[in-house]
Amino acid sequence: MTINPILFGQGSYVDGQWFESDTQFSVTNPSSGTQIAQVADADIALTEKAVAAAKKALPAWRAKSANERAAILRKWFDLMNEYQHDLGVIMTLEQGKPLAEAKGEVAYGAAYVEWFAEEGKRVYGETIPSHASDKRLMVIKQPVGVVASITPWNFPSSMITRKAAPALAAGCTFIIRPSELTPLSALALAKLAELAGIPAGVFNVLVGTDAKGIGKVLTEHPDIAKFSFTGSTAVGKLLIAQSASTVKKVSMELGGNAPFIVFDDADLDAAVKGALASKYRNAGQTCVCANRILVQDNVHDAFVAKLTAAVSAMTVGDGMEEGVTIGPLIHEQALANIHQRVEASVAMGAKVALGGEPHSLGGAYYTPTILTHVTNDMPIAALEIFGPVAPIIKFSTEEEAIAIANDTEFGLAAYFYARDIGRVWRVSEGLEYGMVGINEGILSNVAAPFGGMKSSGLGREGSRHGIEEYIEMKYLCMGGLDA
Ligand code: SIN
Repeated sequence: MTINPILFGQGSYVDGQWFESDTQFSVTNPSSGTQIAQVADADIALTEKAVAAAKKALPAWRAKSANERAAILRKWFDLMNEYQHDLGVIMTLEQGKPLAEAKGEVAYGAAYVEWFAEEGKRVYGETIPSHASDKRLMVIKQPVGVVASITPWNFPSSMITRKAAPALAAGCTFIIRPSELTPLSALALAKLAELAGIPAGVFNVLVGTDAKGIGKVLTEHPDIAKFSFTGSTAVGKLLIAQSASTVKKVSMELGGNAPFIVFDDADLDAAVKGALASKYRNAGQTCVCANRILVQDNVHDAFVAKLTAAVSAMTVGDGMEEGVTIGPLIHEQALANIHQRVEASVAMGAKVALGGEPHSLGGAYYTPTILTHVTNDMPIAALEIFGPVAPIIKFSTEEEAIAIANDTEFGLAAYFYARDIGRVWRVSEGLEYGMVGINEGILSNVAAPFGGMKSSGLGREGSRHGIEEYIEMKYLCMGGLDA
């Protein structure tokens, strides 16, 4: 498979320069476990350099008009679309998701750039009716300053643009440390940023294996004003604590434990289609994946039969192969963790309706699985699965479904299928989640506020609200006007 060589970065991109090093790390294809690239390993000194570069670049970038920044971001967006196929191939090779899904993610990620390039033009201030005739009160909005971020391997491209685009559109400069498992997509975005004319130091990419060391600099450095993270709740809590030392503004997109509720008045075929999309997208490796499927007792058996038939028809394999709908997990350790939870849940009484074991392809491939007779305290329901396993919990009343759904520390996404309008409102209002899909299994899109409640995070990404995370509000009180 040939990929345009202009998209290949072999080390970090800092202050408009590409960094090499004798210390390198391997990037492997999760499908085969084979090495696909060697990348220079960023260290603490390079991280400090990135902070200095972003600080130096800030005044000129901030001084540009929103329209000037939007024009540059628009070029970046156009280039992502032009190279969508190549970017998709890079993503499939390093992350494993099927090529059609990877290309879809590239388009989704690019859409954030287009959206925020435009939203940057609509960062309005306000005037406030004054309490005194000789005073005028106003609010102006300004970029927060240097932004640092850390993003995960499950969405190697869109999680970067979802943070970088609003930051850059608002007039901030930006440093990203992508997962060391998927650095190539991030470096390809940097290649395109350079081609688009984003000035040196405005967008910096640090690829390195020292997650703790780099993370410490990015959360504790006094010249960084804002820190944004997507990843696990455990790591997010640590990064919030580190950011407290310099009272940084933080945004956190953390773990989920999404309930997917099927009521007895649901359109069962639509619910199966939604469950398939929500549960098995990216081999179950999304924070918004259905993690527990709650089904009302009188439609339980019919739903399980339909879901089992649909999941059995999915094709597991290398994401580069035509027709594959489920790729490998990110690595074999992820597979071992999932399988251990399946086995522990079966030991507690869960029944395997489908799969329940590593796939015959070997390596990091897991068989798409359905477990019935699951209870909320089993490890497969209590913890975020991050794999292609659908645990099914039977319930009898609406109140019981809401109670089970909310019985978790997480509050990112929830889904339910029902037709009764009263039920639709009661359940929508009763679910303690930042996002609710009603008769929908996929809810992410650039125009909507993505984010969670409880231990699932702080702040929102995307939508008109996403840019507020990168803006400071400044109140101006102008007096002495009668003099
Ligand atoms: C995530 O899983 O972190 C993001 C999923 C999405 O944007 O749909």
